[in-house]
Amino acid sequence: MQSLQQKASEWSGVSIADAFAIDEANLFHKLGLQTLVNLSTNFYNRVYDDDQEWFRSIFANSDKQNAIQNQIEFLVQRMGGPTLYSQRRGHPALIARHRPFPLTHEAANRWLHHMGQALDSTSAIDDDSKIKLINFFRHTVYFLVAGVEQKDQNFHVPCKDAALKQHPC
Ligand code: HEM
Repeated sequence: MQSLQQKASEWSGVSIADAFAIDEANLFHKLGLQTLVNLSTNFYNRVYDDDQEWFRSIFANSDKQNAIQNQIEFLVQRMGGPTLYSQRRGHPALIARHRPFPLTHEAANRWLHHMGQALDSTSAIDDDSKIKLINFFRHTVYFLVAGVEQKDQNFHVPCKDAALKQHPC
């Protein structure tokens, strides 16, 4: 069976090596905290202002400032900086954390659209870093879509044992 990473590569067109090139270049040190703060803020400003209601509504129950803070801390940690996210939130477990949301291919494309625009309009991100970040985001977004899809399928497997029917299988 295809692994989630392989599926993410197939759907995104980004090889695993390109997706994780971020691990060979400490982008936290290269770009600095303020740039990741600016990128996360820029990104979520676009998401919460989206003229497409179907996408904006995915975030309707999430506080914008909290979402920005989560994203800043995640990016700081994932790009080689201090483990701010895990210290406050625990293991990222991004598939599980995205399970409540409709992570369709259409949503992935819209998410990437906003992130692409945020990357283009955040100053102090050089071209090489931008390519590495885009490849990471493209791969990760489809990794999440594939992961949530797989979890949902497992979740809907009917219970074989009638006595367990009260419980989610
Ligand atoms: C949280 C949607 C892709 C990283 C969230 C939240 C929503 C959401 C609604 C809750 C906001 C909050 O309280 O923080 C989506 C959708 C995506 C997507 C619709 C694309 C289809 C991604 C990707 C990444 C990511 C590609 C990473 C590269 C995060 C992180 C959180 C989060 C770190 C905070 C989780 C927490 O601590 O609870 N996302 N997301 N998301 N997302 Fe996404």
